[in-house]
Amino acid sequence: MSGPDLRRAAAARALDLVEPGMRLGLGTGSTAAAFVALLGERVGAGLDILGVPTSEATRAQAESLGIRLATLDEQPELDLTIDGADEVDDQLRLIKGGGAALLREKIVACASRRMVVIADAAKHVARLGAFPLPIEVNPFGLKATHRAVEAAVAAAGCSGAVRLRGRPDGKPLVTDGGHYILDAHLGAIPDPEALGAALWAVPGVVEHGLFLGIADAAILAAARDGQAEVT
Ligand code: 5RP
Repeated sequence: MSGPDLRRAAAARALDLVEPGMRLGLGTGSTAAAFVALLGERVGAGLDILGVPTSEATRAQAESLGIRLATLDEQPELDLTIDGADEVDDQLRLIKGGGAALLREKIVACASRRMVVIADAAKHVARLGAFPLPIEVNPFGLKATHRAVEAAVAAAGCSGAVRLRGRPDGKPLVTDGGHYILDAHLGAIPDPEALGAALWAVPGVVEHGLFLGIADAAILAAARDGQAEVT
């Protein structure tokens, strides 16, 4: 049972939550893409839903599948968002932003009545922080913001390097919103709420990838006896 199989199994279970007429937030990343692909099949078979994508990549995928789309300005209240995560703990606290879409993902999730995470069960962790925490920043004054982020991380009891995310050509990665990403390689985050608050206090930080009190449920798929077990 491979990673794609597990992602598809989690996505298929999430499809059971979709009802005709729903306004859906569509997440970003490979697991969310598996969900959008299955949703596209249902739409092709006649299901009527409206999707609000969390990235240009998801918009392009959904459009290619004939999924009816709206912007969040056109549909500021959504019924359900289905999205992946880089880490999820027992309290449904998440790290997101591995795909650099955290800002739109958080805005869309918070505009939804429910947010359900879909993931390979390997993303479930006892403590957040092994995955580098993405922090979206305004390009203006990057060096000053970088230093302030390092200080905020230390003040929240974390240690580790904070690095600007690059592209393969060596240039900084630019998000859909025109921002940069700093990845904080912390190993462990003892107090996610304290770190989230400390990051919020830094001018230049647009958003951070800690999703605290946002997810309502997680659908996790693990391999068991050659089958996907979804919980
Ligand atoms: C994008 C995200 C993704 O949901 C997260 O990175 C998980 O991606 P994948 O499903 O490919 O593992 O937060 O910004």
